[in-house]
Amino acid sequence: MRAIVTTANGDVRVMKVEERPDPTPAKGEVLVRVKAAGLNFADILARQGLYPDGPPKPCVMGYEVSGVVESVGERVDRNRIGQEVIGMTRFSGQAELVAVPEAQVFEKPDKLSFEEGAAIPVNYLTAWALLVAMGGLQKDEAVLIHNAGGGVGLAALDIAKHIGAETFGTASVSKHEFLKQRGLDHAIDYRNQDWLPVLLELTNGRGVELIIDPLGGDSWKKSYRALRTTGRMGVFGLSAASASGIRGKLRVLKAVIKMPRYNPLGLMNRNKGIFGLNLGHMWGEGEKVAGWTAALMRGVAEGWIQPHVDHAFRFDEIADAHRHLEGRKNIGKVVLVP
Ligand SMILES: NC(=O)c1ccc[n+]([C@@H]2O[C@H](COP(=O)([O-])OP(=O)(O)OC[C@H]3O[C@@H](n4cnc5c(N)ncnc54)[C@H](OP(=O)(O)O)[C@@H]3O)[C@@H](O)[C@H]2O)c1
Repeated sequence: MRAIVTTANGDVRVMKVEERPDPTPAKGEVLVRVKAAGLNFADILARQGLYPDGPPKPCVMGYEVSGVVESVGERVDRNRIGQEVIGMTRFSGQAELVAVPEAQVFEKPDKLSFEEGAAIPVNYLTAWALLVAMGGLQKDEAVLIHNAGGGVGLAALDIAKHIGAETFGTASVSKHEFLKQRGLDHAIDYRNQDWLPVLLELTNGRGVELIIDPLGGDSWKKSYRALRTTGRMGVFGLSAASASGIRGKLRVLKAVIKMPRYNPLGLMNRNKGIFGLNLGHMWGEGEKVAGWTAALMRGVAEGWIQPHVDHAFRFDEIADAHRHLEGRKNIGKVVLVP
């Protein structure tokens, strides 16, 4: 099979499409012929050497796929062969074939293309965990979604609209029109101006009840200030550090130095909450994640979950795919097709 291999830390030239032995499904696993694999910001950070959860290099990245079950291991119902599925993979998804534990694979709804199917797991489970499971977003509350035009951002917008919250989103200006069409109530340019006074003006100085912030560093300080009383902030990324080589390491250091330090008494007296999410540390919570997935699949059936695929790059265009995400050009999901 062909697979996208990240050979070392570095710029986009470290990625190669290589031949690898076909995997064999072990007991309890299914072998999926991949039709589309998701590309995530974690893959960019991993290539840059800034993602501690990534496998040792050389490695095949890839947290999610959609495809067709080609064969099954022992203890798996053979009727699954031929089923169109979406799967969560602990790496190795960016390949023509991947073996996945059966519990991490679910049937792809007919109404989703393979590309749309691969856009579901990471973005929508992350957004669900942030907004619903941990953020407890309620109807008529206000939510600020940072990078609203990105993969997780658009997923969060679908969910927040369904809940009936008022939505605020930061994004590059080129994405604002699209975001308004998707239902975002207030699009804020955060690259050419300070977004905090704009948000405060839009909310009559009150701020919002929920903020999801994947930027890190001093962005978390500012987001915390934008919380209304009873507000919650979900931190889930360090996009601000993204860069190859020594620049990336320095940016991580800067982000850590500028990170806020919270005091529980301060949180108590200000009626504010902070929580963190790392979906990649949820592998031991299969039942919980399966419950979230079922809710999302109901959303697909009812039409309020609408994954938006920005672009499908071929495996041999992997350098372009990384440049696209790193260059902030994507609106929604980038997927890779063999
Ligand atoms: N903790 C978790 O479980 C978890 C799970 C999934 C994702 N994440 C994190 O969530 C964030 C979004 O992930 P994603 O996969 O959906 O990617 P994404 O948002 O589609 O990523 C690309 C977008 O991020 C924005 N961005 C902000 N700072 C950037 C920078 N320094 N360089 C490049 N782009 C930047 C850009 O949009 P603008 O137009 O807004 O600038 C860009 O288009 C990432 O930080 C990722 O690591 C965390």
